[in-house]
Order: sequence, then C-alpha cells, then structure tokens
Amino acid sequence: MSAGHMSDVLPHRAIPSQGRLDVFETIRTRRAVRAYTAETIDDESVDRMVDAMLAAPTASNKQAWGFVVVRNPVLVRRIRAFAPGIIGVPPLILVACFDSGRAPDDARMPDVGVLCVAMAVENFLLAAHALGLGGCPVSSFLAKPVRALLHLPDHLAPVLVVPVGHPAQEPRRSQRRNRGEVVRDETWGRTASGTGAPA
Ligand SMILES: Cc1cc2nc3c(=O)[nH]c(=O)nc-3n(C[C@H](O)[C@H](O)[C@H](O)COP(=O)(O)O)c2cc1C
Repeated sequence: MSAGHMSDVLPHRAIPSQGRLDVFETIRTRRAVRAYTAETIDDESVDRMVDAMLAAPTASNKQAWGFVVVRNPVLVRRIRAFAPGIIGVPPLILVACFDSGRAPDDARMPDVGVLCVAMAVENFLLAAHALGLGGCPVSSFLAKPVRALLHLPDHLAPVLVVPVGHPAQEPRRSQRRNRGEVVRDETWGRTASGTGAPA
C-alpha cells in the first residue's frame, strides 16, 4: 500500500467507455453536486437509481428503511425551505428514512439502521453519477417539518435528504486525507509493511 497518494486525479465527468462508466471510475469521480440545471429527471433514470439503492446491503437483511422520491417542484421547494444543507434547486429530492417498525426488538438497530440507509444513499448517488447526474447527501435539515410535509408515519425517521439533478457546473474537487495517515497495514501501530503481529 503506497503512502502519500492523493485522489482527485480524474475529473468529475470521466469519459464513459461504451456509454457506461467503469465501477472504479464511477466511485473515483463522484463528487458532491450542489448546483443543478432546471432539466427534470426521467422515470427510467429514477428507476435505475432506485434499483441500485435497494441493492445495498442491510444488517440481517432487515431492509429497515423507507424512501420518498420527490419530483413535484412545489414539494421540492418546500422541503428545501427546511433543509439549509441543500444549496441549489434540484429537480428531485430523495428523502431516505430509517424504519423503526422493521426492527422493533433490536436495541442497536437505530444506529445500525442509519448505516444501512447511508449505504443505500451512496448507491443512489453512484448510480446518479453513472447516469450523468449528480447529487449530495444532506444531513442539515429539519426532520419534523419534512416529516409533516411528506406525511411520514411515526415509524419512519428521515436520515438524509438527497438533492439530485443535472450538474449546472463542474463540481469542485474535494481533497482526501493522505492515505498513509488513515490506512495502516495489519495493525495501527506500524506504518511499514511489516506484519504488525505481536512478537
Ligand atoms: C452524512 C453526510 C452529511 C452531509 N451533509 C451535507 C450537508 O448538509 N450539506 C452539504 O452541502 N453537504 C453535505 N454533505 C456532503 C459533504 O460535504 C461532501 O461529501 C464532502 O465535502 C466531500 O465532498 P465529495 O462528496 O465531493 O467528495 C454530507 C455528507 C455526508 C456523508
């Protein structure tokens, strides 16, 4: 594992080979997209993003989640009014929720369930990117009014709101911490390529 590697060598929009991005290119070139054109998102793209989202792994395969795909412009603007983390005006907002009703006996599930929702959202964002769209996971929003706007039942707790649209501009590259600083081989105690095993 080489230290000192910085990411961001590829632009956000990599050249798709045969119309599709390779999975590694897709992962490496995804960026948080916060500015969108007015263009809407078609049903087929939504279907593909949702398919990718629902393919995410979940703890004990509980799938303790619920999602609302909002494309009604009036509703999008209302949600945005309670979500300072959403910068531009997107044509679509995904509201990703943890479903406490799916795991009532497991005390750890609220935390673990949030992880599962986050994994699904990452799939959704990667699929969006592969389709030439862009989005951003947003935790800065007021759950109570969003819950009321969408008529969410008590067992659904919004975890993230996710604006998605056609990028209005090339998104800024985000920096990554130095790989050697955050990834070690075998144990945290050694940075060299030794086994790290106790003597
Ligand atoms: C859990 C979570 C919450 C986030 N909340 C916000 C937010 O409220 N507003 C925002 O503009 N970006 C938000 N982001 C996006 C991050 O700022 C962004 O992913 C980070 O700066 C790295 O940039 P990149 O996604 O382009 O690599 C959030 C990301 C995560 C994972």
